[in-house]
Amino acid sequence: MAENLIIAKGDKAEKYALLYKQIVALVEGENDAIANMANIAAMIHQTFGFWWTGFYRVIGKELVLGPFQGPLACSRIAYGRGVCGTAWKEQTTQIVPDVELFPGHIACSSLSRSEIVVPVWDKQEIVAVLDIDSEHLATFDTTDQKWLEQIVVLLYK
Ligand code: SME
Repeated sequence: MAENLIIAKGDKAEKYALLYKQIVALVEGENDAIANMANIAAMIHQTFGFWWTGFYRVIGKELVLGPFQGPLACSRIAYGRGVCGTAWKEQTTQIVPDVELFPGHIACSSLSRSEIVVPVWDKQEIVAVLDIDSEHLATFDTTDQKWLEQIVVLLYK
């Protein structure tokens, strides 16, 4: 895997397409999920300049903070709480265009305005979530969902 991330010029889909290829190359050479989470968070964060990009891991009845890029964040989130806990409970990606309108949203940072949370599966079980926060409203759409869901599949193959 090249040491340097290459960021495509062009729209979001073009950026994700190149990012995805580089993540495939990364995980081919490394099978430790935490190491891969760390580099995947860094690569997504650097490509798009989001406010916060990281993983929470399922440990018992809670989500526990994992590798991330961005400011300090909450360490633990209970099942069903916030956007992250909801993605875990509902077993589906959550796209939140305005976090203030999401009941029970956990404000780790008052600067976060919109969010996407994608469950990470290991076989039939959710073992983590990928959480991305933006300082802008309505940053995330089905293009993000499609690519991020494909990216997290690479973690536990
Ligand atoms: N906002 C998230 C909590 C995690 S931070 O944004 C990093 C939530 O409501 O689950």
